[in-house]
Amino acid sequence: MLPDDREHAARELLPPEVYSYYAAGSGSETTVHEAARAWASYRLRPRSLRDVAHVSTTTELLGTPLASPVGVAPMAFHGLAHPDAELATAAGTARAGSLFVLSTRCSRRIEDVAAVAGPWWFQVYVMKDRSLTRALVERAAAAGARALVLTVDTPYVGAKRSVGGVRIAVPPEQFLVNLAEHLPEGADVPALTEQDPSVDADVIGWLHEVSGLPVLVKGVLRGDEAVRLLDAGAAGVVVSNHGGRQLDRALPAALALPEVVAAVGGRAPVLVDGGLRSGLDVLVALALGARGVLLGRPALWALAAEGADGVEGLLEQVRAELVHTMALAGSADLTSLDPSLVVPGTTLPEVRA
Ligand code: FNR
Ligand code: LAC
Repeated sequence: MLPDDREHAARELLPPEVYSYYAAGSGSETTVHEAARAWASYRLRPRSLRDVAHVSTTTELLGTPLASPVGVAPMAFHGLAHPDAELATAAGTARAGSLFVLSTRCSRRIEDVAAVAGPWWFQVYVMKDRSLTRALVERAAAAGARALVLTVDTPYVGAKRSVGGVRIAVPPEQFLVNLAEHLPEGADVPALTEQDPSVDADVIGWLHEVSGLPVLVKGVLRGDEAVRLLDAGAAGVVVSNHGGRQLDRALPAALALPEVVAAVGGRAPVLVDGGLRSGLDVLVALALGARGVLLGRPALWALAAEGADGVEGLLEQVRAELVHTMALAGSADLTSLDPSLVVPGTTLPEVRA
């Protein structure tokens, strides 16, 4: 299936309010619409006669070997997309040899997802009741998560105009699947489980302490912030504007990536997400210095359309495109990708499928 076909199939299958929730961005959706165009604005400077008979996409992230640098971003409540929810997404991702990032806001028990997952990380929202976050990260660590991903661009959930600012109604059996056992009887659930907007960078050290895991920070768009967060103990950063769902008019990840990579200077892995739709986009991201990329909405469309097979097929397709475009660019492995392969464009063109 072509990427657009998966989205069309998902749109046909999903209840309209779920499709809208997934597709939505915040505000005027400027950031959503610029994401893919920003990747497409780069141009390539291929090398030649470099023996590309065998192209390898194997890599390693924080000590974990991976067949592909293309993973799945943390996204809330896969149970809205498919009855097998994160069990399907995690299984499909594992079959593709990719990394799965499980959202704090997931529809299935952490332990059940872990049982079918390949290498996976656990995304963290720090909730107002800190003991809930502690319980979840301890469970994630015990279940085999290899890192935590602290999302820092969401002190409040961005207002999505296309859905009238209305937050999707998530069935309690999904919303509470991991939380219920940690909540006191008769608890005011929203008051305890909303993101705590008062957290500061000390939370990175706290998360590392309670989980024993490396903590990456997701939602970084500035070099100086990346350095500040690494100084505070982060083990890596994910350049991201949350798929355009938080601060509207935030910089496209594709344009923020070079500054962050330069500031980090090889101290820690830099990943990126937002608007990546093809192996060619991935090639650009890796050439600019990302160690890995995460796909967001495309994975939800694939899940909705074809379950675990759809997710596996998406990741295999993007990896195959990466192999093909690496060969045409004269790179036989990921270590031979470097910034000299790309030149930034000056305008954001309309995206062509
Ligand atoms: C997200 N994203 C997200 N991020 C996060 O850290 N925790 C979460 O629970 C969610 N939930 C979520 C739900 C939905 C429906 C979407 C579309 C996105 C953001 C996600 O991890 C990622 O940053 C973007 O989706 C990447 O952009 P693309 O690939 O969707 O363009
Ligand atoms: C979203 C939040 C929940 O983007 O991360 O929907």
